[in-house]
Amino acid sequence: MDTKATHDVAVEQGPITKEYKANSLQIIKELNRLRSTEITSYLQYKQHSYMAVSLLAPGLKKEFAVHAEQELQHADMLAARIQQLGGVPLYELEDIAAKAAQAGVHPEQGPQLTDMVMENLLIERKQIEAYTALLREIGDKDLVTWQLLLSILAQTEQHASELADYLKRTAHTRK
Ligand SMILES: [Fe+2]
Ligand SMILES: [Fe+2]
Repeated sequence: MDTKATHDVAVEQGPITKEYKANSLQIIKELNRLRSTEITSYLQYKQHSYMAVSLLAPGLKKEFAVHAEQELQHADMLAARIQQLGGVPLYELEDIAAKAAQAGVHPEQGPQLTDMVMENLLIERKQIEAYTALLREIGDKDLVTWQLLLSILAQTEQHASELADYLKRTAHTRK
């Protein structure tokens, strides 16, 4: 049986062992920043799904709603990891807005459907940059966070690709 000191460390640090090579406080901060962009993205997609007229664009209205749900899942996944690392997910609205703004993300609602699609595409692209940069920084220092970020990045690139395809198609049909 291990000593009391070993037990105390085990209880205090949970999943963090000596092989964890990242700075967990720094990672928590970064995850909270990314999560703030996900919450902003959720709100923006929701807003767009409310405002898109279903008669004109039933597919788009539904697509905005589907993306919104996925953004909320991303926020939940990040929150779970923040908690595992000993942090607290941000919950004050001002803090969330400030963190998202730091990452260059603000909710917007343009007048036309194509404006909305473009606004969502721009957020997705900012997130792709932020996730890619953090993934590169983390490398093998925190494997579980790395894997989590990679899975969110994959879906974010998928969203960006779908939105860009839509804008390409509509630009084509307008000619
Ligand atoms: Fe997302
Ligand atoms: Fe997304």
